[in-house]
Amino acid sequence: MQTKKVRKAVIPAAGFGTRFLPVTKSVCKEMLPIVDKPTLQYIVEEAVAAGIEDILVITGRNKKILEDFFDYTPELDALLEHDGKEEFLAISRKMENLANMYFVRQKHPVGFADAILYAEAFTGDEPFAILLGDDIIYTDENTMPGIKQLIDCFEETGKPTVAVMEVSDGDIAKYANIKAEEVGERRYQIEKIVEKPAVKDKFSNDAVIGRYVVDADIYDIIRRTPPSPKGEVYFTDALQELARQGRLLGCKFRGKRYDAGNKLEYLQANVEYALRDPALAQPFRAYLQELVQKFGK
Ligand code: G1P
Repeated sequence: MQTKKVRKAVIPAAGFGTRFLPVTKSVCKEMLPIVDKPTLQYIVEEAVAAGIEDILVITGRNKKILEDFFDYTPELDALLEHDGKEEFLAISRKMENLANMYFVRQKHPVGFADAILYAEAFTGDEPFAILLGDDIIYTDENTMPGIKQLIDCFEETGKPTVAVMEVSDGDIAKYANIKAEEVGERRYQIEKIVEKPAVKDKFSNDAVIGRYVVDADIYDIIRRTPPSPKGEVYFTDALQELARQGRLLGCKFRGKRYDAGNKLEYLQANVEYALRDPALAQPFRAYLQELVQKFGK
């Protein structure tokens, strides 16, 4: 029985965010807000809600703003304190104390698997969670955070676990695709996993989205994995080695996932999170109803 606890998380955040040009020329995509919080904060809060205390963000050049976001802001805090703006002060202080944040720079943005190798000194030989910044998973108060559902699966079975979601044929080529057998409630033993197949080559409609829990042996596996024809070592190919060894599980998580790297879903996330915000819900709903009456049909 597995006894190793997952205490650390890694967030790869070195990508250029080209799908969000021009804003990403100078603002990194992890800082784009959903309502008032940067997408990265949602990811960090999900990890923290899952009991993770130490988080490594793998950044790159031009991403200094991410470190600043989690740092103290003494001038701002002093001003808020002086003006008696307790509510805003609490928001600022919350960021400063959310988790132990660590940052390392990937030297060249050559992909997800290479980025993960930068986490080796941080995790040592402990298992760890990986959360991709484009994937936001909303769960209500009765549902465990997305990554916690995977951590529970890993801690119960001792097997690395990836998040699985059903997608339509039109979306198959955007994700890693799996061939798997159901082995428990929402749990699948993965036989094969392939990166972004053409729809004619799909195994199923089950896609892997950006949540993973792996053991530290993933580093050696990545180093042994040959690059794809495009020259990049795919993280998915490293996972395929775990699948070959019969050690990879999929967890069909509960919750609603948004691809914040896609403009339409990013806008949908903003609308839905605004409707969940107690201070905004009522006037925003009224505005949307007005809009539907005006432009609907
Ligand atoms: C990455 C992974 C892919 C995974 C996806 C989930 O792709 O390479 O295997 O299915 O994240 O969002 P990307 O979205 O970076 O192209």
